[in-house]
Amino acid sequence: MPPRKIIIDTDPGQDDAVAILLALASPGEIEVLGLTAVAGNVPLELTARNARMVCELADHAHIPVFAGCDRPLGRALVTAEHVHGKTGLDGPDLPEPSMALQDAHAVEFLIETLRREPSGSVTLCPLGPLTNIATAFRQAPDIIPRVAEIVLMGGAYFEVGNITPAAEFNIYVDPEAADTVFRAGAPLTVMPLDVTHKALVTGPRNEAFRALGTPVGNAVAQMTDFFERFDKEKYGSQGAPLHDPCVTAYLIRPELFSGRHVNVEIETTSELTLGMTVADWWGVTDRAPNATFMGDLDAQGFFDLLTERLARL
Ligand code: RIB
Ligand code: CA
Repeated sequence: MPPRKIIIDTDPGQDDAVAILLALASPGEIEVLGLTAVAGNVPLELTARNARMVCELADHAHIPVFAGCDRPLGRALVTAEHVHGKTGLDGPDLPEPSMALQDAHAVEFLIETLRREPSGSVTLCPLGPLTNIATAFRQAPDIIPRVAEIVLMGGAYFEVGNITPAAEFNIYVDPEAADTVFRAGAPLTVMPLDVTHKALVTGPRNEAFRALGTPVGNAVAQMTDFFERFDKEKYGSQGAPLHDPCVTAYLIRPELFSGRHVNVEIETTSELTLGMTVADWWGVTDRAPNATFMGDLDAQGFFDLLTERLARL
């Protein structure tokens, strides 16, 4: 089976960085056509910087990186420096990127790539707010049926919100963009907090990263050392939840995950529940299922895969 062609849309973010490293370490299963940066955890200038730093950490400076939208479709940007630090990639001391950003806008790259590549051959992997993806879909609706699958990190149902009592960060930052993507009709697989909060980097798991004894292993361990303090304090959890790597791990070993194909709609009007992913998990409405909403994973299998692949870089 040839590797799956993907575009990673990202707002690095330590967990985005690990998701990108996992993809770059898995050329047998994944061909990364490019990274598109979006404003989210930190402003666009930093997410575009961080995406390049991660590519160079993996010695993959040939991966094209594009800057995209610097704010949500119709709202002010909300960022998460309280979680990711002021640079968005606090923890390791990585060099400033030397690879250049591509000239084209990320939305142009998304549209052109989906029009050029054979229909049904490109998977979109959004790891941040969905502003770039929604903008591309609104500008060029002809690309939507050409998307093989969207596998995204976002949302929450049983786990409830992490930025408000009702909403997960990626969806909350740009609920209108999320609504566009969830209604688009492309095959959609969602990694919500329900599953990502089960991907916890416990002490032994982080020591396994460090024990790789490589620049990548050390950087990931240092990212996790920084990133975990927020969730440990807030949830009393055993370690940082590796949200975004659930997306790229799914592309490699989907059997690690389980969920249900249900209807998921986005709250875009109520201020109280803005950005909530309303998942009809129990099928109590006649709303058509539009997403495979993941709820569980084999956590040790996930970390075994991640550690084995990071060792390759
Ligand atoms: O809520 C978690 C998500 O928000 C992750 O993608 C993290 O990187 C942040 O973007
Ligand atoms: Ca992210």
